[in-house]
Amino acid sequence: MYVVIGLGLFETNDLTHEYVQYLQGKELKQLTLTLAQHIRQALVNKGREHMHSEWIECGLFELSHMLLFESSIKTLYGDIDPLSFEREYRIFDSNIHVLMYPYPTFIFKQLYSSLIKAKQFLIKQLYERQHHPHDQDQLDRTRSLFVKFMNDLMCKYPEQTVSINDIGSFNLALLWSAIGNTIPAVYWALFYLLTGPTATIDIIKKEIQQHLSLFIRLDIPDENNDYQLDQLDKCVHLDSAIDETLRLVATAMILRRCSKDTKITLDAERTLLIKKNEAIVLFPCASHYDSRIFHNPFQYKHDRFLPANLNVEQKRSFLPFGGGKFICPGRSMAKNTIKISVAFVLQHLNIEFLNSDIRTPPLAKEKIPDFQNSRIGYGIAPPREERRIRYSFKQ
Ligand code: HEM
Repeated sequence: MYVVIGLGLFETNDLTHEYVQYLQGKELKQLTLTLAQHIRQALVNKGREHMHSEWIECGLFELSHMLLFESSIKTLYGDIDPLSFEREYRIFDSNIHVLMYPYPTFIFKQLYSSLIKAKQFLIKQLYERQHHPHDQDQLDRTRSLFVKFMNDLMCKYPEQTVSINDIGSFNLALLWSAIGNTIPAVYWALFYLLTGPTATIDIIKKEIQQHLSLFIRLDIPDENNDYQLDQLDKCVHLDSAIDETLRLVATAMILRRCSKDTKITLDAERTLLIKKNEAIVLFPCASHYDSRIFHNPFQYKHDRFLPANLNVEQKRSFLPFGGGKFICPGRSMAKNTIKISVAFVLQHLNIEFLNSDIRTPPLAKEKIPDFQNSRIGYGIAPPREERRIRYSFKQ
C-alpha cells in the first residue's frame, strides 16, 4: 500500500474522491456478489478435484489463499488467469518486507534475484493483461469499474510522467493491497473461531444459517441475491468477531507528513513537538492493545464489537484501516470479503486441526498473536507457522 501512496496518484483531492465511489454503494454490492460467485466456484472445483477422498489435508493459511487468491483477483481485474502467476505472487508476497529495506540495487540483485524477477514478471503481466488483453470484450465484461477507472486514468498521463512500468507497478501495489491483507485476515478470523469455545462458533454458525444460507449455497445459481446481500449486515456477531480479529492482528504502520508545526501534550510534564514536513509513522495497533481502552486487550472476545458493548473511545481507537483522508478505500470490500469467506467455510466445511493441542494456548495466554515478525507493520501479518488442518465437505 505504500507503493501506491509513493506513486502519488492518490494525493490530489479530486482523484481521491473520484475513485472511491467504485468501492462503495452499488459498485460495492456488485463486487461482493461477483466475489461470492468466484468463491463458490473455487469451492465447487475443489470438491470435484477431491471427489474420491473424503478428507483434504492442507494448512489453514493455504485454505484462505485457495479461497481468495483467484477469486479476489478475478473480481477486481477480470478473467486474467491469476493461477498463471500464482507462483510469482507467492514469492513476492512472502518477501514484500524486503523491498522496504534501504539496500543498494546490487544487493537486491545479488541476494534477492528471485524476488526481483517475480516482481518484474508480475508488473509486466498485470500491465499487459489490462492494456493488451487476448480478448478485450471478455476483460471489459469481467473486470471491476474500479480497476478500469484507475487504468484508464493512468493512460491519460504522458508516458514521461507515468510510464508503462509505473502502470504495472501501480496495479501490483493495488493487487497486493487488496489480497495481501485479506488472505491473512481470513486466516486469523477462522483461526480464532475454530480454536475458541464451541458456544461462540455455534452462535456465528446459527447467524450465518439464519441470514446467509441462500446467498452462500453451493448448488444453485443465486436468485434474489441482492436481497441476500443486505442480510450480511444482519450478521452482527460475525461482524463483531471480525472486528475483534482485526483489533488483534491489524498492525499497519500509517505514514503521514506533518502539515504544520504541532505540539502534542503527552502528560502533565511532557509535550512532543512535531515540525512541519516531518514524516510521522503511526502505529494504531498500540491503542488496540491498550488496556485502558480495551479491557483484557490480549484476549479474543467475539462480542466485544457488538454495538451495545462499544463506547466512543473504543470506536475512535479502532483503526485497522488507518484513518482520515487516506483511510483504506477498500475497507468495506475487505470486511465483506472476510465475512463471506468465513460464512462459506463454516457453512460448507468440517475442519479439524491435525495438531490436537491447538485449542489450549493462544487464547488463554496473554500474548500477541503468533505473527511472522518480519511482516509486522505492513498490514495484517501472516502467521509465523502454518497450522495443518484437514477438511471435508458437509453433506
Ligand atoms: C483486511 C484487509 C485490509 C486492510 C487491513 C487494509 C489496510 C489499509 C491501510 C492501513 C491503509 C493505509 C491507510 C492510511 O494511510 O491511513 C490502506 C490503504 C489502501 N488500501 Fe487497504 N486494507 C485492506 C484491504 C483493501 C482492499 C480489499 C482494497 C481494494 C479493493 C484496498 C485498497 C487500498 C488502497 C487503494 C489504499 C491506498 C489509499 C491511499 O493511498 O489513498 N485495501 N489499506
